Amino acid sequence: MDPFLLESLAPVGADAPVSPIARRPAHLVGNTPILWIDEPFAPPGRGFHAKLEGANPGGIKDRPGLHMIREARRRGDLAPGAPIVESSSGTLGLGLALAGLTYGHPVTVVTDQGMEVSMFRLLTALGAHVDQVAAPHPDGGWQQARRERVAELLGGAPGAYCPDQYHNPDNTAAYRPLAAELLAQLGRIDVLVAAVGTGGHSAGIAAGLRERCPGLRLIGVDAVGSTIFGQPAGPRLMRGLGSSIHPSNVDYQAFTEVHWVAPAEAVWACRQLARRHYASGGWSVGAVALVAGWAARTYPAGTRIAAVFPDGPHRYLETIYNDAWCREHGLLGSEPPPQPDEIAEPDECVVTGWTRCSRVRDPLGRETATKSAKAGTR
Ligand SMILES: Cc1ncc(COP(=O)(O)O)c(C=O)c1O
Repeated sequence: MDPFLLESLAPVGADAPVSPIARRPAHLVGNTPILWIDEPFAPPGRGFHAKLEGANPGGIKDRPGLHMIREARRRGDLAPGAPIVESSSGTLGLGLALAGLTYGHPVTVVTDQGMEVSMFRLLTALGAHVDQVAAPHPDGGWQQARRERVAELLGGAPGAYCPDQYHNPDNTAAYRPLAAELLAQLGRIDVLVAAVGTGGHSAGIAAGLRERCPGLRLIGVDAVGSTIFGQPAGPRLMRGLGSSIHPSNVDYQAFTEVHWVAPAEAVWACRQLARRHYASGGWSVGAVALVAGWAARTYPAGTRIAAVFPDGPHRYLETIYNDAWCREHGLLGSEPPPQPDEIAEPDECVVTGWTRCSRVRDPLGRETATKSAKAGTR
């Protein structure tokens, strides 16, 4: 790493361009910075460009939160002042709280018992109502239980609107500006590494980048125990990435390969990022960094790799960054292997640690051929 010994005697930041004054908090969304990440993920001279979406007021989902609500109002699906109800593990909740404030709608975030206390408090402080389901659905897990509760709340509130981030194409389209920012910042991108939950940001950014970089390779990062890419549903400690349903925003055909990552591996990566690079985040950030570091070691020198870091570390101080909590869950003490395990088919066996598969297909066999082309056209 370059020693950050500035030649100039001016205080750090003195030469930074002065940002314009934001008149509304929504104007603070976007134009997020990029940080170069190398050791210990890659040897000196190799590394990847981390797009720090945690620099948005709420996180990466400020973008779809604002865009989905703006589009719903434009179409007339959401009347002025009508309530918004959505299922979220927290990040979209923050984006919707911002959209509610911006456009004047009350917001209810339906979540589960795994939501961090700090996220619960923050959402409440920002004016959202948080509704926590008590138990997982017997087949569809927590996500299905949350979705059923959303349906129940919508049924009881005429005019209420659910953006449905799992299936709403406006979620994907919201990331076109992020792709444009990456192109402006990096010029050319060869590999994009992105976590997958609803599938929105991987699909939207890849579609935007491919217009200028048609050879782009898209590496999807999922959690062990997630059903998205064809594994059976299992217990998931990691939040944000992964799912127990099959969101239709996942653009299966856009992916070159998928990696599943386990919680201890993500914890190791998050803590390394914090120590060595000051910038870190949550489960998806750790998992993405692990895989992007592998790409930086594996692809030829000069390959330009961008990785999306969806949020920052503060929400995870009592989990990922809490030694006692991590010890209780057996997440400390082992470094991830230098290479992932490999499987030829996504459902070949149940994966329990970092595993890679270069065969990606929709486990439900849905038609996705036109999805990339459609992203951003609504
Ligand atoms: C922190 C975090 N990382 C990653 C993701 C996955 O992003 P996407 O839903 O765009 O696939 C989410 C989704 O909620 C998230 O909250």
